[in-house]
Amino acid sequence: MIFDIEMLKKFYASFGSRVERSKQSVGKSMTLAEKILYAHLFNQEDLKSFKRGIDYVNFRPDRVAMQDATAQMALLQFMNAGKDKSAVPATVHCDHLIQADMGAKTDMNTANESNKEVYDFLSSVSANFGIGFWKPGAGIIHQVVLENYAFPGGMMVGTDSHTPNAGGLGMVAIGVGGADAVDVMTGMEWELKMPKLIGVKLTGRLNGWASPKDVILKLAGILTVKGGTNAIIEYFGEGTASISATGKATICNMGAEVGATTSLFPYDNQMSAYLKATNREEIALMADAIESYLKPDPEVIENPEEYYDRVIEIDLSALEPHINGPFTPDAATPISEFAAKVKENGYPRKMEVGLIGSCTNSSYQDLSRAASIARQAYSDKLKVAAPLIINPGSEQIRYTADRDGLLASFENIGAVIMANACGPCIGQWKRHTDDNTRKNSIVTSFNRNFAKRADGNPNTHAFVASPELTMALTIAGDLCFNPLTDTLVNEAGEQIMLQEPKGTDFPPNGFAVEDNGYIAPGEKKTEIKINPESARLQVLKPFASWDGNDLLEMPLLIKAEGKCTTDHISMAGPWLRFRGHLENISDNMLMGAVNAFNGKTNAVLNQLNGGYEAVSSVAKQYKAKGISSIVVAEENYGEGSSREHAAMEPRFLNVKVILAKSFARIHETNLKKQGMLAVTFNNKSDYDKIRENDHISIVGLRSFAPNKNLTAILYHADGTQESFEVVHTYNEMQIEWFKAGSALNVTK
Ligand code: F3S
Repeated sequence: MIFDIEMLKKFYASFGSRVERSKQSVGKSMTLAEKILYAHLFNQEDLKSFKRGIDYVNFRPDRVAMQDATAQMALLQFMNAGKDKSAVPATVHCDHLIQADMGAKTDMNTANESNKEVYDFLSSVSANFGIGFWKPGAGIIHQVVLENYAFPGGMMVGTDSHTPNAGGLGMVAIGVGGADAVDVMTGMEWELKMPKLIGVKLTGRLNGWASPKDVILKLAGILTVKGGTNAIIEYFGEGTASISATGKATICNMGAEVGATTSLFPYDNQMSAYLKATNREEIALMADAIESYLKPDPEVIENPEEYYDRVIEIDLSALEPHINGPFTPDAATPISEFAAKVKENGYPRKMEVGLIGSCTNSSYQDLSRAASIARQAYSDKLKVAAPLIINPGSEQIRYTADRDGLLASFENIGAVIMANACGPCIGQWKRHTDDNTRKNSIVTSFNRNFAKRADGNPNTHAFVASPELTMALTIAGDLCFNPLTDTLVNEAGEQIMLQEPKGTDFPPNGFAVEDNGYIAPGEKKTEIKINPESARLQVLKPFASWDGNDLLEMPLLIKAEGKCTTDHISMAGPWLRFRGHLENISDNMLMGAVNAFNGKTNAVLNQLNGGYEAVSSVAKQYKAKGISSIVVAEENYGEGSSREHAAMEPRFLNVKVILAKSFARIHETNLKKQGMLAVTFNNKSDYDKIRENDHISIVGLRSFAPNKNLTAILYHADGTQESFEVVHTYNEMQIEWFKAGSALNVTK
């Protein structure tokens, strides 16, 4: 058995009483999100009412999931934690590093060869530390988690932003950075600001061409890409019951596009049926037995405005299929208005490629509905105008879809079946195109459509839609085609109207698979080999502890101006391949940050020789001479993703302090976890006092204590000095991290 049934028995046996105690101490009825969060408090003795959006709370998640691009650094850190095995069930999924090119078979061979050392590393670490390993080709992390691990009422963290997909089975599942995953795997508390709650009431029932994807495409238009920040989106209302568990997962998955912490649905028969169809009847029965605890309380449904911070209502019966884009997933347009929008904005009307797959839309239901349209196109002799690419979500889905003839339906109209992996969704797409400079349009069933994401081409206009709408537009090859109202002309010159998509939630003969690609952790320890010559993997040496002295006369490395996100600090794209090699990836450190003194990126003063060089190069030269340096920045430093490389790279290159006007919360925590000093200006205008060739001291560290400011002293090149107060937010534990050199050193 892949999941741990004994753990789940204990979980369900105590879940109801934990919720009851929480409700008593809070003194009111609860939403589903609150029930799950309170039932997962790290310290159950700490029961009290936490203020949403304000209080930081420690939780004890049940599981961890990691994908191969982020798992490398997470596991390298975990190896230094001094633990024998993961404290909670955890899995690694090899899905991001497989490039889509010629088709599944060829591409898998290429990936297995080119990523061999990374896969070998991930599998051996997993085997040694009690972590389940899903081989390349086994499927996309979130689909595999939904099929095997997600459970109603549970709490999970995953090192991928679409982890909330598991909300389709009523789980609070949150995307985090590797350092957070390590906290959970080492059994430490995991901290989160108590999220606000957005209630989305669904009424009516989806019909015709409308699909679960259209619910979130419409909601993205309402909330915009920032509207869900620091909030959990909880769906409720009678409309939820008619949506399949995989459809619910699609909706939760794309909650990441509005910035939501996570999304979730209440437990119902659809979830029960999905658990049973995926060999988890025992879990379904246990969840059935405590059903009322896996839903919001009746008072919440009656009076949602009192319990949610915001309530939005969507009538599924009236919902039109939507198509969102280009360049941002919140540009939502109902299909009836889309042709006009295309013409008005001059989007390239010709649709050049249709792509169906990704963790958002690659379930059996998705494929079967899209296949029904493909079958009609074939039998009605419609010429398919654009190339079609399919990435199944998992080997179980691929095998079953193959057995049931769904893949043949796609192949009959010329589709290429790629590996069960992310592929084009993460930019791992060797697109076959004659001209990269031409403006062009593609439609995908994915979740993100930022410029360059799928094919690296800024001229590509990517639109996201449901798999069925993607299929219809691929057949038409025309962005202005509306399958609800328009006809197509077939090879015989006849006008053909596409029929409404038809599919089944589950395969009529059940799911099947020969080799699901899972490798259970081994009983015996084996040697974890990392080639010292490797360009992609490097053993992580623990960072040195604090030497007990103030940080004196550090040269300024860069004074960054304006936005400085984690992408500016540690770029993605071609640097993805070095995610397991701290030294090599550190070459990208701060290369996107703008130098306040010359307006340039990656050109800073080297105070050793007076020249201008790349930020990482200057930092390396300082480090080689045993000199520490300091980075100065403006507001919300480190916003964006939770990638820990953005904190580890400066740490590795001997940057000791980040002095900013303010920090993004997750990044500030990441800096603290890596033993860095993250401080803010007490008076923001002091930023202006920093000169290009300054040396800066931070003093007061010998009496480093919570709520006690430190002092910065600027030594200007003209011999003058200035000093001012800087503020920190370190608590006792975080000061211990700083002194020990990192949180991991403390854990160890
Ligand atoms: Fe992979 Fe794209 Fe999902 S990168 S995990 S399929 S968002």
